[in-house]
Amino acid sequence: MIGLYGLVITGRRKNLQVKRVKMEHYYSKKQTSSFRPVKMIIRARGRTLDIYTAGGVFSPKKLDMGTALLIDTAVVKPGWRVLDLGCGYGPVGISLKKAHKSIEMVMSDVNSRAVKLTKMNTKVNKVDVEVICCDSFEKIKGKFDTIILNPPQTAGKQLCFQMILDSKEFLNDKGSLQIVARHQKGGKQLCKKMEGVFGNVCEAAKKSGFRVYVSERIENKG
Ligand SMILES: C[S@@+](CC[C@H](N)C(=O)[O-])C[C@H]1O[C@@H](n2cnc3c(N)ncnc32)[C@H](O)[C@@H]1O
Repeated sequence: MIGLYGLVITGRRKNLQVKRVKMEHYYSKKQTSSFRPVKMIIRARGRTLDIYTAGGVFSPKKLDMGTALLIDTAVVKPGWRVLDLGCGYGPVGISLKKAHKSIEMVMSDVNSRAVKLTKMNTKVNKVDVEVICCDSFEKIKGKFDTIILNPPQTAGKQLCFQMILDSKEFLNDKGSLQIVARHQKGGKQLCKKMEGVFGNVCEAAKKSGFRVYVSERIENKG
C-alpha cells in the first residue's frame, strides 16, 4: 500500500506550482512527515495509561471508539498467547497485558512509526511484550490462543479478508479471532467473511455503531 500520490499547490499567487507528493497513510510502511511524539492519556479496561502518539499513525489524537470497545470487551484468559495484529501505537496490546500479567503478548504492525511508538509505550507502561514490524503474518512465529484485530479497512477489503484467512492458520484449536468494526461501514462484510472462513461467528459486543465479531477455530478431528 505504498506509492500513492497526491497533488499539492505551492508558491505565491503569481508563481503557483503544482507538485506531485507521496501521500502518507496510517498503513504505509514508512512515514515521511517529521516524527513529533505527543503524550496523551487513555482510559480503557478500568485503567489510565500514558501513551505516546504522533502523526502518520492510526487515530493519533484520541483513542478510536472501536479500539476502546475492543479493549474493554476482548476475552483473554490467564496464560494465553495473544497477538495484537496491526497494533498501531499499541493501546490494545498494552492495556490487555497490563490487565492480564500472565499472558504472552505479541504486537505487530507494518507501519514502522507505529512500531516505534509501541516500543516507547511498552517502556513507559512497563510491560514485557514482543513487538514486531512486519507485513501481516510475514514474521509471526507460532500459534496463538487469540488474535485481536482492529482491521485497516482504509487499506482495502482484500487485505482485511486476507488477514482473516491467514489468522486461522495462526490459531490453536479453539483459538479465537476477535475483530472490531463499524457494522454499517464494512463490518457486516468482515463478519460474513469470518463466518465463511471459520464456519462460525458471533457478535460479542456492540456500541455506537461498532461491533466486536468473534470466530473460533474448530479443528476437524474426524
Ligand atoms: C485501524 S488501525 C488499528 C490500530 C490499533 N490496533 C488501534 O486499534 O488503535 C489498523 C492497523 O493495521 C496496520 N496495518 C495495515 N496494514 C497492515 C499489514 N499489511 N500488516 C500489518 N499491519 C497492518 C496499520 O498500520 C494500523 O496501525
